[in-house]
Amino acid sequence: MRILALQASPNEDGLTASMAKEAMEGARSAGAETELVHLRKLRLEACRACEDGWGRCREEGLCIIEDDLETVRDKLAEADGVILCTPVYFGDVAEVVKSCFDRLRRCERAGPGDPRVEGKWVLGIAAAGGGGGGGPTCLVSMERYYAHLGLPTFDQMIVTRRSASYMLPAARSAGERFVRYIEEQMSE
Ligand SMILES: Cc1cc2nc3c(=O)[nH]c(=O)nc-3n(C[C@H](O)[C@H](O)[C@H](O)COP(=O)(O)O)c2cc1C
Repeated sequence: MRILALQASPNEDGLTASMAKEAMEGARSAGAETELVHLRKLRLEACRACEDGWGRCREEGLCIIEDDLETVRDKLAEADGVILCTPVYFGDVAEVVKSCFDRLRRCERAGPGDPRVEGKWVLGIAAAGGGGGGGPTCLVSMERYYAHLGLPTFDQMIVTRRSASYMLPAARSAGERFVRYIEEQMSE
């Protein structure tokens, strides 16, 4: 069982990173192999909407931009489940999540077929500020990416500075349960 965590905050010891760490620890305790990818350390440019709006993504399922998108795609393809952890910025996902997932959904869903990421289970985590305003709309954006990519959702969590004390242990439990749930689904 392989679990990939995508962490989108620039703060390596911030709330988003801490939630990712706890969820991964939980996944490991259930026997999974885990890998953490700091999306901000990769080169992931925004979609250029090239040609008439559809470019190489529709023709070939590939992006014209030569950066780290295919690296993330390969890692997702190899994983059984993904933990997507983003800070909440302006009630939405972090810019790097948008750069990555906007282009990924074009290549995966609009391309000539044979999507490689479809069917991967996802646990989403949105880390917000004090009161968490914007957390729910961030989860809506995440849900839209899952729908377009064909990723079944295990759960979506919002954590805030105020709820961190009880949501960090919840993230660990969620990571553990995530792995067990995927195992159950695989054995059906
Ligand atoms: C540009 C920017 C926009 C933000 N927008 C929101 C927001 O809409 N709602 C919210 O609750 N917090 C917002 N925040 C606060 C972050 O979501 C919060 O600090 C979060 O915990 C950051 O996670 P980190 O510690 O992992 O970096 C924003 C922060 C930044 C930098």
